[in-house]
Amino acid sequence: MRRLNVSLGERSYPILIGPGLLAQAELLLTHLPARRAVIISNRTVAPLYLETLAAPLRAAGVKLAQIVLPDGEQYKSWETLNLIFDGLLCEHCDRSTTLIALGGGVIGDLVGFAAATYQRGVPFIQVPTSLLAQVDSSVGGKTGINHPRGKNMIGAFWQPRLVLAATDTLKTLPPRELAAGLAEVIKYGLIRDLPFLEWLEDNMESLCAGDDAALAYAIERSCRNKAEVVAEDEHETAREGGRALLNLGHTFGHAIETGMGYGAWLHGEAVAAGMVMAAELSRRLGWLADADVSRVRRLLLRAGLPVQGAVLGAQRYLELMGHDKKVIDGRLRLVLLRRLGEGVTWADAAPAEIVAAIETCCHD
Ligand code: NAD
Ligand code: GLY
Repeated sequence: MRRLNVSLGERSYPILIGPGLLAQAELLLTHLPARRAVIISNRTVAPLYLETLAAPLRAAGVKLAQIVLPDGEQYKSWETLNLIFDGLLCEHCDRSTTLIALGGGVIGDLVGFAAATYQRGVPFIQVPTSLLAQVDSSVGGKTGINHPRGKNMIGAFWQPRLVLAATDTLKTLPPRELAAGLAEVIKYGLIRDLPFLEWLEDNMESLCAGDDAALAYAIERSCRNKAEVVAEDEHETAREGGRALLNLGHTFGHAIETGMGYGAWLHGEAVAAGMVMAAELSRRLGWLADADVSRVRRLLLRAGLPVQGAVLGAQRYLELMGHDKKVIDGRLRLVLLRRLGEGVTWADAAPAEIVAAIETCCHD
């Protein structure tokens, strides 16, 4: 088992990574303030893994309830959040009840937000089962839901007590979902870890084939990168750089997800196309060479990811991007690349250049 720490003072917590962790109740028990918990999952993941997690906890004397939600990005909504609150109230859950999120990033974000707001805040544990959730969304305490007008627009920062990444769950993850997770892995290389980017270039086929050792290494290195960034700028308030860098490709990508309807593009796919747009804009600003942009595109293609954006029209992109959380005082702050391995936040890109970058990356 690999162990990392997210250092946030009294809200610090461990990330445990390895095979077979779901059945090790003792790993969770030390993080439960009371012997009462609710496992919240979805209709795809629950039949696969809920009982593996629940049985040893029950055997250890934990009073457990479960809530199983519909599966899909379109359910990251107020309505689904309310289903969680209904379940918690029906079970008479009190403030010492721990919520356990078992699933991908959608479940993690929903359950984290429910934990942040139920009775003004209850403890929660992340048990991520998708690659994307194991390398990104389960770490760092961003929780929330989508609004029809904008992705992740309603939410809260609420840190988990523990992240338990059971790598053997990735065996049942569909290949398209594995690729979506690789987009966020590649992101870390692009924004702050050039040696990791080079390692990814050498190992992409092993990762796509689901090689255990390669995946475990990529998950640990991704989590280490994320934990370092979050420890320095937990609430994304740094004036430059900081946690916002983790959103490389996301402003463009969120426009694709919202514009196409939640669930049409996977989050990681939209981020992949968005990272190519960010690279193209960085080239136009003179920071990246043509060869650098080609290198980004090649790696994403080898991961099985799209490098062309959805054809929404550049004006629609700009309109949707205007709702981004990185808009400050009406100015859009984009994450761009000063060079491969070094991300920057940049609020001075001319709209015409942004439009040109989008149009270069969106063809019928
Ligand atoms: P997801 O939660 O929809 O999971 C992808 C699909 O895989 C779903 O159908 C899910 O049921 C299924 N699945 C999950 N684990 C499985 C397994 N082991 N075996 C079989 N099927 C499995 O999507 P995701 O890619 O995990 O997460 C995307 C979400 O995460 C988006 O809503 C995005 O906004 C959010 N996100 C949040 C953060 C954050 O910091 N909070 C960061 C990145 C992304
Ligand atoms: N995925 C972006 C962040 O956690 O800040």
